[in-house]
Amino acid sequence: MASDPYYWLARYYDRLFDLRRPFETAHERIIEPLLPRVKSACDLCCGTGTFAIQLAQLGIPVFAVDLSTEMCRLARIKVRKTNMPVTVIHADMRSFRLPQQVDLITCEFDALNHVPLKSDLRKVMRCAARALRPGGHFTFDVNNRLTFEKVWGRTWFLEQDPVAMVMHGGHRKGTDRAWTDVEWFIRKGNTWTRQREHIEEVCWNAQEIRDAFAAEGFDRVRSWDAAPFFNDDFTKRGYRTFWRARRKPVAKE
Ligand SMILES: C[S@@+](CC[C@H](N)C(=O)[O-])C[C@H]1O[C@@H](n2cnc3c(N)ncnc32)[C@H](O)[C@@H]1O
Repeated sequence: MASDPYYWLARYYDRLFDLRRPFETAHERIIEPLLPRVKSACDLCCGTGTFAIQLAQLGIPVFAVDLSTEMCRLARIKVRKTNMPVTVIHADMRSFRLPQQVDLITCEFDALNHVPLKSDLRKVMRCAARALRPGGHFTFDVNNRLTFEKVWGRTWFLEQDPVAMVMHGGHRKGTDRAWTDVEWFIRKGNTWTRQREHIEEVCWNAQEIRDAFAAEGFDRVRSWDAAPFFNDDFTKRGYRTFWRARRKPVAKE
């Protein structure tokens, strides 16, 4: 538990973060056009496995990768209940390997921002390129610096008995780094316990992302501002971006 920075988040993720609607709208534009040619997929930073299971329900075998042991444990339970072809793999997005190459890799809900170093972007893209068949696609959404500047200083309170959560964070001024402190209050009978988690995030500008894609062998890079998908007060233009790129196909002689 101490070595799993997402332990409490995992335990109460589905209860508190049922926010899939904007992603479903984004999928219609970004992922659905690819699906006819997707024979297998990987959901990187899969959390509790919700999206991996959704993909599998379309008949696509899915590898679901996450660094948190608790997220993986809960994802495996959900997979067993649905009996879908999802293989959960406990691994770091900066070094993961799949048993076989896939046609699509997704990485959702700003999971890619959850790395300690800006240089980690290249590591993730290198692993994604290795895990994709030539011609396969990598898609993800990221928080941009504007979100760190404008939104990260807010305090959020969420509760769903038996848990309440206060989330507050900040942006390290003049940098591409931000943090979130999460205070958990968990009720067992009449007794409340308090737990803390700390999450660090980094971000990149559009040119850095394009350069990383190019350096790791991707082409057909496309981006979508997330504002129209979210349509809320916290996701204004420039705050979050969806990206998609293709691993270059092998050139014919
Ligand atoms: C905000 S959650 C998103 C979960 C899921 N993609 C979703 O859409 O609900 C971020 C996830 O990234 C995972 N994560 C963080 N750092 C990771 C890393 N280095 N490698 C793999 N997974 C990581 C966390 O365990 C967590 O499940």
